[in-house]
Amino acid sequence: MEKRRISFDLLVFDTLDELSQSEKTLMQIAVEARENAYAPYSQFMVGAAVLLANGEIVIGSNQENASFPSGLCAERVAVFQAGAKYPGIAINTIAISVASKTHKVDRPAAPCGNCRQAIAEYEQKQNTPISILMMGVSGEIFKCESLNDILPLAFGNSYL
Ligand code: THU
Repeated sequence: MEKRRISFDLLVFDTLDELSQSEKTLMQIAVEARENAYAPYSQFMVGAAVLLANGEIVIGSNQENASFPSGLCAERVAVFQAGAKYPGIAINTIAISVASKTHKVDRPAAPCGNCRQAIAEYEQKQNTPISILMMGVSGEIFKCESLNDILPLAFGNSYL
């Protein structure tokens, strides 16, 4: 038996000012996008901003539904819109901002499992890493330098 350790470096920032100017701007756009979340059931608001290799920025926010599973997370709204509007253009970075109407969110939230799988598809297809920036209303800001870091052993079309 062999034991293999899978680990990654999570970059942790205390303030937005520690990010590059373009990352800071992208996160501010994610915060703005959060305002258009439709989250009457969870009261949990998520905004996502996707920076593409051509410099375009595409946004998303979570869109809920009375039939709960019919809703969609902010990250997938954004990356699917990016794929629909700019097919074939690589995604460089996704910034994610979370807040709640019921409590203070004092730490970042990482994308849910379904969103990780959806983003992994794009990362595998473009064969370059997608950075993920994550932020709550207050507290630290997280960055991982590849989606694969948070979805190790990802399933993909190489199996099919
Ligand atoms: N949500 C997202 O938009 N992104 C995530 O990564 C986690 C969860 C949304 C889905 C739902 O509208 C609400 O947050 C509560 O789960």
